[in-house]
Amino acid sequence: MLNFSYRNPVKVLFGAGMIAQMSKEVPANARVLVTYGGGSVKTTGTLDEVKAALGERHIIEFGGIEPNPSFETLMQAVKLGRRENADYIVAVGGGSVMDGSKFIAAAIHHDGEPMDILKTRGRAVTQALPLGVVVTLAATGSETNSGAVVTIRATHSKMAFSNPLLYPQFAVMDPAKTLTLPKRQVGNGVVDAFVHVVEQYLTYPVDGKIQDRFAEGILLTLIEDGPRAFSEPDNVDVRANLMWAASQALNGLIGAGVPQDWSTHMIGHELTALHGLDHAQTLAVVLPAMLHTQREAKQAKLLQYAERVWGINVGTPDERISAAIERTREFFERLGVATTLSAYDLGVQHIDALIEQLQAHGMVKLGERQTITPEVSRQVLEAAL
Ligand code: NZQ
Ligand code: ZN
Repeated sequence: MLNFSYRNPVKVLFGAGMIAQMSKEVPANARVLVTYGGGSVKTTGTLDEVKAALGERHIIEFGGIEPNPSFETLMQAVKLGRRENADYIVAVGGGSVMDGSKFIAAAIHHDGEPMDILKTRGRAVTQALPLGVVVTLAATGSETNSGAVVTIRATHSKMAFSNPLLYPQFAVMDPAKTLTLPKRQVGNGVVDAFVHVVEQYLTYPVDGKIQDRFAEGILLTLIEDGPRAFSEPDNVDVRANLMWAASQALNGLIGAGVPQDWSTHMIGHELTALHGLDHAQTLAVVLPAMLHTQREAKQAKLLQYAERVWGINVGTPDERISAAIERTREFFERLGVATTLSAYDLGVQHIDALIEQLQAHGMVKLGERQTITPEVSRQVLEAAL
């Protein structure tokens, strides 16, 4: 196992009716900037519940944070927060709202250009307003981690950044809040959480038994309950397991002490920035192709994955690996998330620009051994056609 330091300070408030509990977490005299997305929290009633929980506190509302939140939109919230002297942020929504609110939290009192927060990948963050989140979409794990992704629209740059100051103070996770999700977002959420686990698990063995078995437990749960969210759409227990799985997939625990990959995510970000695919759609396209291309470098863990996650233990090593990749692809497709570039009307003619963007963003040595050069990324994209 590799050395690691691990700390996750987020207080989780999990279960039905837990929104009301946030009144104990936010100071009584706080001036609260409440952030949300395109309006789902209004129609579902979640925003009203949040406001009721905040009671007499001064509330400043900022709606309209879009999926794949943009620097340009978020700077409007930063200006509002400055003008109104906000001193606490409550984000109500999915990964985009939570991520965008982490940027706002860091930018409001940032000494210098807020853009530097993105350009330094979060190293420029020296302070942040306290942030609480109310999760309405289980997928990214943003609720219990210190990372975020913000798009600079002007340059089509999807910038991931993180800083320990950006951990939420608390995360309300009421699984019933995800019952209103459209099917597309349910599928997206399961795929995103699944790929988060894979990026930290399918590398090379370092005898991290706890990390491996936790990772496999999350994958098995997603495989079991992901499809059930479609066949039993009103089952809150299913949503509870998916919500906790998504949080555990990216709260730092399974990634501590093991190598991490993240090449699928970085290539995926360019697909979203240039072509507008949903985050999870990009992962469903890139991951099977990445595993195929990296089948030798990842052989030992792929065989472990095949056996322990998919129960594949007959055939040559190569046959078992092929079968495991195929099962992964079928799983994504079953969740309604297509796994080829052509399914999104993209072809070989789009690959050059994607590679140029990877280079422009410094994504030239990706993967657990930094071997995913632009040339390998090209092979992966070609394998994803
Ligand atoms: O905007 P509204 O109207 O709220 O609608 C949203 C949005 O259109 C809707 N939605 C959310 N909760 C709902 C709901 N609709 C009905 N009922 C509900 N309960 O769902 C749509 C998608 O929301 P979004 O927040 O964009 O989805 P997701 O949670 O998948 O977040 C994706 C973003 O997170 C980033 C991605 O890059 C992307 O920008 N990621 C963040 C990570 C992190 N912080 O650790 C890691 C991930 O790898 C990922 O990169
Ligand atoms: Zn992701």
